[in-house]
Amino acid sequence: MAKATSSVGSAVTGDLDRVLVVDFGAQYAHLIARRVREAHVYSEIVPRDVTAAQVRDRNPLGIILSGGPPSVYAEDAYDLDRDILELGIPILGICYGHMILAQALGGTVARTGAAEYGRAELAVNGGLLFAGQPDQQFVWMSHGDTVTAAPEGFRVTAATVGSPVAAMEHEGRAIYGVQFHPEVVHTERGQDILKQFLYQACGARPTWTHVGIIEQSVAAIRAAVGKDRVICGLSGGVDSSVAAAMVHKAIGDQLVCVFVDHGLLRKGEAAQVEETFRTTFRTNLVRVEAEDRFLERLAGVADPEEKRKIIGETFIRVFEEVASSFKDARFLVQGTLYPDVIESGTKDAAMIKSHHNVGGLPDDMELELIEPLRDLFKDEVRAVGEELGLPEEIVWRQPFPGPGLAVRIIGEVTRERLDVLRSADAIVLEEIRRAGLYRELWQTFGILPAIRSVGVQGDGRTYAYPLIVRAVTSDDAMTADWARLPYDVLERISSRVINEVPGINRVAYDISSKPPATIEWE
Ligand code: XMP
Repeated sequence: MAKATSSVGSAVTGDLDRVLVVDFGAQYAHLIARRVREAHVYSEIVPRDVTAAQVRDRNPLGIILSGGPPSVYAEDAYDLDRDILELGIPILGICYGHMILAQALGGTVARTGAAEYGRAELAVNGGLLFAGQPDQQFVWMSHGDTVTAAPEGFRVTAATVGSPVAAMEHEGRAIYGVQFHPEVVHTERGQDILKQFLYQACGARPTWTHVGIIEQSVAAIRAAVGKDRVICGLSGGVDSSVAAAMVHKAIGDQLVCVFVDHGLLRKGEAAQVEETFRTTFRTNLVRVEAEDRFLERLAGVADPEEKRKIIGETFIRVFEEVASSFKDARFLVQGTLYPDVIESGTKDAAMIKSHHNVGGLPDDMELELIEPLRDLFKDEVRAVGEELGLPEEIVWRQPFPGPGLAVRIIGEVTRERLDVLRSADAIVLEEIRRAGLYRELWQTFGILPAIRSVGVQGDGRTYAYPLIVRAVTSDDAMTADWARLPYDVLERISSRVINEVPGINRVAYDISSKPPATIEWE
């Protein structure tokens, strides 16, 4: 496979005002980092074993210590390089971070055994974090241990019934701690508290905006690419579409988008990709009609793993054939997002990993990666996509598996069965959109199983497939719950599918959560 040698296109510049979020628990750190960015300050997640020297190198205006394990005394408790506290950079400790600060600086963290979870009423007593806010406010708590005495020199600025030191600060040292979670929506003034820290304590400027992200990324791409040619594989999904639109804005016709239509997309999707990129954006688009080739290779194959393997291999082969006609290309666009980068370790580690190989390209091509989204969270990618003028259908599209409808057809994938599922699936989506539910659902789709049953329609008996409808809520696809769709929406889906799609005579709704089920059926 082709090798990639470096990565460019990020909107992050060296002189950007930045705040580091030390990761003591991934889900807290991500949410805090997103909230900081919503306040238009660039945030970066760093691992909990970050050293004071590494922090200094990144030159942040502030540091936030995230929530994490419930107790600083637990076996799995983590510590922080204490030298970080001596750097003179403003620090905000949240929940676990608050307890670490208290413990490190000589306060008392009690193992009270009385955990505090949920809503609590906070009595505020001045302080920079609460300036201009009411003296009584509701906050969200989730902790085991409790700070019972603030370190010397600290002022207690808020308390709840269960937490005598619910907030503390040392103005001279610019160190702040809150026992509650300002990043969650249940904390009424949470965003205001974070803004106070960012703008007042750190002196950060609100410069991280969607327009700014686009400008900086476009400038970085232009500077790196010069007059060279760039290739981008388009799938029609949010990430590759936004990445392509960004690169197109930067370098116009030097970008070639390759869209392999494997014939396994949903109704209207391939046309939408073509319409958006060829007609609206006027990109240099190569659409490869490969449906026949994929279907020939899938003929007679029922095993799901075998299907996936065939689709993956065929895809690489087709992409390679097209890419090899652009031998002068020097760059490849990838829609890597910030959570993928964090997941693979530190930013540098991720860089090394993504350089190893680039699937789907000829061996003798040496390509540099352009990853304009590698510092962005999904919600930022969507906002940037809207700003770039991509249509709502693409920007808000629910996740869709690479192997497409082939993994939603149990048994053999044929043109006829694809047509049946495509028509039925389109009705499901239409009714979900009409009910205003599309954006709040993680995924909504139809599945065509390999069984048929007897039905009666008009004067005659039918022997046809059922359609299984799946609608789930989820945050990250790791766990999911079946959506409590209103009966009238289910009813409309059912009657329309049965009446309008020949080949289907029943509709069933999947009421399994993940785990133990999965989201897809295959
Ligand atoms: P499961 O079915 O394992 O799916 O609960 C979890 C999430 O992953 C998506 N998915 C895929 N996405 N290529 C993708 O890009 C794939 O091969 C693939 N298989 C599953 C699935 O739609 C769900 O969001």
